[in-house]
Amino acid sequence: MRSLFAGAIAWAVLAQAAPSYAQQQGPNPLPPGEGRDIVAVACTQCHGPNAFTQLREGPDAWRFQVYDMILRGAQVQPSELEPAVNYLATNFGPGINVPPTTVQVSLPDGPGKDLVEQRCVLCHGLDRATSAKRAPAEWDGILRRMVFLGAPVSADEVKTITTYLGANFGAKQAMK
Ligand code: HEC
Ligand code: HEC
Repeated sequence: MRSLFAGAIAWAVLAQAAPSYAQQQGPNPLPPGEGRDIVAVACTQCHGPNAFTQLREGPDAWRFQVYDMILRGAQVQPSELEPAVNYLATNFGPGINVPPTTVQVSLPDGPGKDLVEQRCVLCHGLDRATSAKRAPAEWDGILRRMVFLGAPVSADEVKTITTYLGANFGAKQAMK
């Protein structure tokens, strides 16, 4: 009990003395640019920048993320909101310095293959897309989410891709 208590005090002292996550991480992963200072401060109080620098999303999805973080307690002033969103969308948008993936995926032939190869690698590796079989309804939901996140895919292309993925990476029923 005693040592637990001492541990708790040590932890509290450590927590107070600890530098922010941003300072702990060696080379700063936040590229220069307008809005950087806002993000560098407001977005590193609870987790490191890696929580978001590995993601690639369009402006609407980044705005949604920032609002979500404000609900969790992030200190972003109203006037800082759009600069922060612009900074994130500019530096961590689809197709921008996409984190490399080591897993190579070769897709089966068929209509939709080219679309998947071109559009589904803009934010993450293809392996992310093909790692699991999913029921058609699930693919539909995922495609909608990818479009919300900023995937440049038209409504017709969504159908083609969903059909292709359902045929080649389809499960008979949703896995729970
Ligand atoms: C007050 C604490 C706090 C601050 C400040 C904060 N976050 Fe977060 N963030 C969290 C928590 C908690 C999670 C984990 C949420 C979860 O796993 O459900 C998280 C997770 C995330 C994720 C991962 C979400 C996902 O879908 O996997 C992103 C992206 C993110 N934060 C971005 C940001 C950005 C951008 C900022 C600055 C505007 C920010 N965070 C500031 C608390 C914070
Ligand atoms: C604009 C960026 C972006 C593009 C383009 C994109 N994705 Fe994603 N994808 C994400 C993000 C961010 C995540 C992780 C967050 C999430 O799962 O909501 C993700 C996760 C996934 C997952 C895992 C979901 C899960 O529930 O485990 C699958 C599958 C996926 N994407 C498929 C695709 C397919 C197929 C395409 C091509 C049509 C695609 N993605 C294009 C951003 C993108």
